[in-house]
Amino acid sequence: MSLPPTILPSITALHTHHPREHETFAPQAGVAAPRAFSSLRGSSAALSLNGDWAFRLSDRADAPDDFAAADYDASNWDTLAVPSSWVLHRDEHGQYGRYGLPAYQNIKFPFPVDVPCVPDANPTGDYRVAFEIPESWSGGKAVLRFEGVESWFKVWVDGAPLGFSTGSRLPTEFVIPATAGKHTLAVRVHQWSAASYLEDQDQWWLPGIFRDVALLYRPPRAVVDHFVHASYDHTTGKGTLKVDCEPAGHVTVPELGVDIATGESVTLAVAPWSAETPRLYDGLLDTGTSGETLPLKIGFRTVVIEDAQIKVNGKRVLFKGVNRHEFEPTRGRSVTRETMEHDIQLMKAHNINAVRCSHYPPHPAFLDLCDAYGLWVVDEGDFETHGFELCRWRDNPTDDPRWTAALLNRTQRMVERDKNHPAVVVWSLGNEGGMGRNIGAMADWVRSRDSSRPIHYERDLELRYVDIFSHMYLFHHQVEAIGQQKEPALPDVALDAKRRNSPYFLCEYAHAMGNGPGGLAEYQAIFEKYPRTQGGFVWEWIDHGLPKRLPDGREYYAYGGDFGEEIHDSNFVCDGLVFPDRKPSPGLLEYKKVIAPVGITGDAKSGTVTIKNKYDFASLSGLEFSWSLSVGGQVVESGTLAVPEVAAGASATARLPDITLPPSLAIGEGVWTVTAALAKPTRYAGRGHEVAWGQFPARFTAPTGLGTDHTPVVAQPTVKADTVTIGPGTFRASDGALVALGDLPVSDLHLEVWRAPTDNERFGGDAARWRAAGLDRLHHRTDAVWVQDACLFVRTRVSAAAHDRALQTTYRWSSDGSGLRLNVAVVPKGDWAGITIPRLGVVLALPSRLAQVRWFGPGPGEGYPDTKGAGKLGAHDLSIDDMQTAYVYPQENGARPDVRWAEVRGCEGEGGLRIDGVPSFALTARRWTTADLDKATHATDLTPRDKVYLNLDKAHAGVGTASCGPGPLPQYILRPCPTEFSVVLRPL
Ligand code: GAL
Repeated sequence: MSLPPTILPSITALHTHHPREHETFAPQAGVAAPRAFSSLRGSSAALSLNGDWAFRLSDRADAPDDFAAADYDASNWDTLAVPSSWVLHRDEHGQYGRYGLPAYQNIKFPFPVDVPCVPDANPTGDYRVAFEIPESWSGGKAVLRFEGVESWFKVWVDGAPLGFSTGSRLPTEFVIPATAGKHTLAVRVHQWSAASYLEDQDQWWLPGIFRDVALLYRPPRAVVDHFVHASYDHTTGKGTLKVDCEPAGHVTVPELGVDIATGESVTLAVAPWSAETPRLYDGLLDTGTSGETLPLKIGFRTVVIEDAQIKVNGKRVLFKGVNRHEFEPTRGRSVTRETMEHDIQLMKAHNINAVRCSHYPPHPAFLDLCDAYGLWVVDEGDFETHGFELCRWRDNPTDDPRWTAALLNRTQRMVERDKNHPAVVVWSLGNEGGMGRNIGAMADWVRSRDSSRPIHYERDLELRYVDIFSHMYLFHHQVEAIGQQKEPALPDVALDAKRRNSPYFLCEYAHAMGNGPGGLAEYQAIFEKYPRTQGGFVWEWIDHGLPKRLPDGREYYAYGGDFGEEIHDSNFVCDGLVFPDRKPSPGLLEYKKVIAPVGITGDAKSGTVTIKNKYDFASLSGLEFSWSLSVGGQVVESGTLAVPEVAAGASATARLPDITLPPSLAIGEGVWTVTAALAKPTRYAGRGHEVAWGQFPARFTAPTGLGTDHTPVVAQPTVKADTVTIGPGTFRASDGALVALGDLPVSDLHLEVWRAPTDNERFGGDAARWRAAGLDRLHHRTDAVWVQDACLFVRTRVSAAAHDRALQTTYRWSSDGSGLRLNVAVVPKGDWAGITIPRLGVVLALPSRLAQVRWFGPGPGEGYPDTKGAGKLGAHDLSIDDMQTAYVYPQENGARPDVRWAEVRGCEGEGGLRIDGVPSFALTARRWTTADLDKATHATDLTPRDKVYLNLDKAHAGVGTASCGPGPLPQYILRPCPTEFSVVLRPL
């Protein structure tokens, strides 16, 4: 391109982009060396600087920085709470946008990739706050500590720059003289920086000072740092304690009679720490400084890799884990201590014993709670460069020496901060950063600093540098092959030998997005069978939905794309076991059942129950057992069950009472239920909290009547001009449509094979293939209606526009006078090869006054063929509204599988409809159609119609976890084939 002649003679450069301060590879400047968080616990004074700070947001990084001057007048600035993320502040109408907007991308960077530069459009928050150092601090030092700032920040005190830092979820300390009097702290935060290239985790981008800020007084000789080494030798039952400290001092553990110098070790009999028995000893560290002794929480435990297993205190452990991001719907990553504790209580109450801190070190208080409650923790570095994958890994920091210092800095700050937590049993270097030599540098450093924990980094699939094999989302058969040490060989023989003799866990599996994850029980069976496969960590704990308000005031949970992001990843950010408000999803209840620490199986014939203790360490003495016997959903007798002592890993047999029921009670399906519940209150749940249960059949007396296949048909059809009646059923003669059942109007009964695709089906599963086959837009043509042998027959052809394949569907109606039996025969016609279906059943519409459902079958929650472990056989009663599961992205939900019978009534119990299965069916009741559910993208899109829709299904497909991982296992896939099924309808 040639320049216009007028400016040809000389060029005046007006702007040339040079990397700016926040676009350098340096991670930090002017900061103190990292150290253990527990070093801050001394009794010396500390001042929280959390609170309202003056705040100004600019949309570029180059706004003048004169605001840092001590005498700068910020009186016209806004006020913003610290800690918080500025994009999450909403106005009084609940609307975002005052300080920019949150944005969600999973893998892709939200800006052009050009290391180490970032866009000019770079939201920049300037903060100011005044603080006062008390007279009593004079003579010592003060430490200004930031627990987390996203993503780059620079700090001034009284106008003098102290330095800058990156590493959003890592602490930074600046040391200042403790000069008594008033001071001003100024902080500039850039949302984007070179460091953003290292923080491409799958989550919302949430800039700001989002964790605590504090000023800590450090008197002379105060603890700078300390390292508690507390191991346990399971062969002797003794623990060894050594505390390294700077400066040197003294350690006492009164309960153990320990009184040693730092650097000195002592070995003595102790009770070990484990996630099941989180025994902590209180110690004190004294460095001789006035007014400061440091409390220690000491847990003795030893982690080793041996026999291709991770062993703690000599035993193989099984991780029943979950990946936890920090998230609260209104606070983002500024989680409160109450939330952290609530998360842990929920995890423990749902039998979860392990947590991977995906994908950064959590708020330090979380790890204190893990020590105290007992959870195995995989602590992970704040490092992910996944977006480079989309650039074919060009310039990936993981393999670029320009970034080595920054990556080491991140690893060091994690290890130093968290090294004293017994709960942390594995160091993870980061997530999805591809591979490269910097992984080696990080691993080497960790080994040199702390050889007491194995190292994990999932993408080091060949185990070049790390100790644990953990390829995420592998399918069941692949995990099984690993269990058998039969995984495909690596080309490098030495690496292959190393890997084949290393332990394996799935650092991520069972993508809990929407309805699912399916297939958990099958994974668990593999983990329990093969010692090498040590469990996994479900992806993930919580849906990161952000509350957004419609003009009419209704709120829904927003996800990627709801904030106008130029590129985004939709609802992939909502893939947790708990909903954004932390209500357990059906997936969490299923997980709780699958990973229950007690296996309960029984045999009514021999009157015995086998109790298997699946804990790795604990006995079952903390549990009490009870039994109940129910028939047809009614508990007829119950009592406590005496269970002998069962050591970890062992089984025992208990005897059931010998019960003879009077004949009047002995009709119906009988079931024994045996329950293990907490015998004493714990920190996470009260006495009686159910930990595990099992059911097994007691007695089955076949029901009589239309629910069986050999019912004598007594009612003859009556054919009039417009109608046909059979028993309680009235049909339109022209097309054979059922229009009433007794007084109850019924409409639109037809075959349905479609369901609103689940997230797992939309992302990676079969939804696109189903739509291509037209399953979501089937036409129903009535081909013939006739009466024969006391039955009304209606034959239809069900097929999609543009396709010639069809499901020939014949409805056969008959009656015994009181009930109406529907038999549906489906015969696929044409070429169905390779086509699966999501469900097979009928749907019918009923008046909207119906509101309540009582049923006998598994429940009370939903269940699909590969997610129905948590349903307990019994009689259940729920409103139709409560039968819905409000997944953040609306989708198929709410089916109750294996229902024997159900009654649908008005809310005051007024009459409705009873359905009996032959022998069972899956039931779904909703106030909207399948098409409505399919169309909706947010919960508020669903508005009740003036009808209730009941789906009575012979079968549903499994839900699998194909959004990441396998789809439904073969046994849970539905393929069209000639099929018949029946239900009996009865007016109530
Ligand atoms: C994994 C990744 C997680 C998350 C998940 C999909 O590959 O490590 O951070 O993105 O996929 O939800």
